[in-house]
Amino acid sequence: MSKTEVHDSATQKNELNEHEQHYFTSYDHFGIHEEMLQDTVRTLSYRNAIAQNKDFFKDKVVLDVGCGTGILSMFAAKNGAKHVIGVDMSSIIEMAKQIVELNGLSDKITLLRGKLEDVVLPYKKVDIIISEWMGYFLLYESMMDTVLYARDNYLVEGGLIFPDKCSIHVAGLEDAKYKNEKLNYWQNVYGFDYSPFIPLVKREPLVDTVENSAVNTTKCKLIEFDLNTVTIPDLAFKSKFKLHTKRQDFINGIISWFDIEFPAPKGKKPVTFSTGAHAAYTHWKQTVFYLEDDLECEPNDVLEGELVCVPNKVNNRDLDITISYNFKAGGPDGKERSRKGKNSYIMH
Ligand SMILES: C[S@@+](CC[C@H](N)C(=O)[O-])C[C@H]1O[C@@H](n2cnc3c(N)ncnc32)[C@H](O)[C@@H]1O
Repeated sequence: MSKTEVHDSATQKNELNEHEQHYFTSYDHFGIHEEMLQDTVRTLSYRNAIAQNKDFFKDKVVLDVGCGTGILSMFAAKNGAKHVIGVDMSSIIEMAKQIVELNGLSDKITLLRGKLEDVVLPYKKVDIIISEWMGYFLLYESMMDTVLYARDNYLVEGGLIFPDKCSIHVAGLEDAKYKNEKLNYWQNVYGFDYSPFIPLVKREPLVDTVENSAVNTTKCKLIEFDLNTVTIPDLAFKSKFKLHTKRQDFINGIISWFDIEFPAPKGKKPVTFSTGAHAAYTHWKQTVFYLEDDLECEPNDVLEGELVCVPNKVNNRDLDITISYNFKAGGPDGKERSRKGKNSYIMH
């Protein structure tokens, strides 16, 4: 194992279904990798988590699930790993091969093309799994499934997963101007009525950056996952939330984001990062679910609800999300302002 070897793919792309082909093709082009590499919150968090825990990596066999351009593999190799195996189904791995060679790490890194689920690894077991698998709203793309497959099939007992903790959070959001612009646009497109698009637009969560000042309720952690123990069925979840309004305003939607945490030795602060509106920009931005109602709120009203998230039946990388809400307004006009609703969304 002294050479970086990119054999023919272990997975024949034309045998994958159209959704899978489309998914892996989306990672072929360098542009998407450039965006990820340039996301310094993301990439430096991985580098810090690895570099600050050199003792974990020293002389260990590491598996990089979905290695892309090889950046995480190289971080691990530079920080003492005995050997790193990088696996990716997309053609970008051919570039990773050149990069690894150019940077003198061919002896330390083996690159394998194919789906992680299909490749044969040169080691039966690995000590550490590293992977950047997170999608919008954390779970979009369903790539965590592949990390869990790697854990269950290759990770030694007591091995580490970088990162290993993640959580999804929600809050209320004032965003009337943008919401109305997005919907009203379809009322009159060059003089034509395009309103049949409106229900489709309403069903689509918006991925965009949000000003933190537009968040007008308390925050609520919807769910957390420990990658050491979570199972694929757990990723289809149903969670309740309860938010308290902070000011007189309107709630036009629910904003969501996720937080990430890497392993650290006992007593040492772990590397973490957040993709919330209160934190520095990441390419994941935030995900907004506009509500059918615009909720007129006063301080200390309560927005309770439940969010159900399941992988779409046709394409399991898409997510079907339903938000049921019960807005309980207080004060003399509380009854008129209170609303109940249930809205469905698809992330695709
Ligand atoms: C979000 S990118 C991360 C790339 C790189 N690790 C980085 O941090 O820049 C995820 C990569 O995982 C690959 N991938 C996703 N699912 C995979 C699977 N089941 N088998 C192999 N590669 C996979 C994609 O092709 C993509 O290149």
